[in-house]
Amino acid sequence: QATLKSLAAAKGKYIGAAADNGELIDPRFQQIIGEQFHSTTPGNGMKWDAIEPRQGTFNFAKGDEILAFAQSKGMTVRGHTLVWHSQLPGWVANGNWTRETLTAVIENHINTVVNHYKGTLFHWDVVNEIFNEDGTWRDTVFYRVLGEDFVSLAFRTARAADPNAKLYINDYNIDGSGPKSTAMFNLVQKLRAEGVPIDGIGSQAHLIVGSIPSSFESNLQNFASLGVDVALTELDIRTSTPISEAKSQQQLLDYKTTVGACVNTPSCVGVTIWGFTDRYSWIPSTFPGEGDALPWDKNYNRKAAHDGIVLAL
Ligand code: XIL
Repeated sequence: QATLKSLAAAKGKYIGAAADNGELIDPRFQQIIGEQFHSTTPGNGMKWDAIEPRQGTFNFAKGDEILAFAQSKGMTVRGHTLVWHSQLPGWVANGNWTRETLTAVIENHINTVVNHYKGTLFHWDVVNEIFNEDGTWRDTVFYRVLGEDFVSLAFRTARAADPNAKLYINDYNIDGSGPKSTAMFNLVQKLRAEGVPIDGIGSQAHLIVGSIPSSFESNLQNFASLGVDVALTELDIRTSTPISEAKSQQQLLDYKTTVGACVNTPSCVGVTIWGFTDRYSWIPSTFPGEGDALPWDKNYNRKAAHDGIVLAL
């Protein structure tokens, strides 16, 4: 049977799967991710709390472990993520900052991290989840102290540190048309007009079986019309567990629709699934009663969802 990566490559796309450090000790996990996927994204290993838990104290152990594993399998890595309100250490979130001091903190974090991985990562998620559902700005320490300017600061700093990494703005629930997608579109349009180096829009695509927005593909193409690349960066399609046969067939169609939307969008460069096996997925602990969101089951059997991806590719 053809691998997902050979099928995706034939369509000019990459296909990736997120990996967390703990999973790397599992030989089946290692084998399948290396065989099936072009790239990985560290599930947690490159977040602010992992890398700079105390001001000026950097720990690259987890990120480096994912990178070394990926390289051993001939895979590339999407960096995730530089500026995010979540998994942000308390010293940043609760600091008593001025514009000047928080600017210096952001610059130092981005410079140090991006420079450390310079030349090895093909993408960075520079800012993550900056909007509320209604399209207004999320209330974060970054927005409170710097207003919208933290976004351009982050992108300009990242570009200067590694001119070759493609720089992404990433969010969830921007999967179909609506106020949050409109806010993303308008911000990227404005920042690009100002010369801010944003290369791509990442749609996380944390979705629910049977509930893919009908505007999924047109929304992706609308983002692409800004002249940026687009990518599905964290695709998973959850359901109440255990998944029924009917839901399983619906999930096949939903994976086909979402991966197919990328295939049909010339500026969509690829798809990353947030893991690949239900053995390791963030869904059950985050959404109690839900799960079975990925294309391989807990015992590494391919599911109908896997066939949906194959059909799209
Ligand atoms: C999730 C990880 O998968 C979990 O292990 C962690 O406990 C919480 O974060 N959007 C993102 C990702 O951008 O970083 C999140 O990853 C899932 C939602």
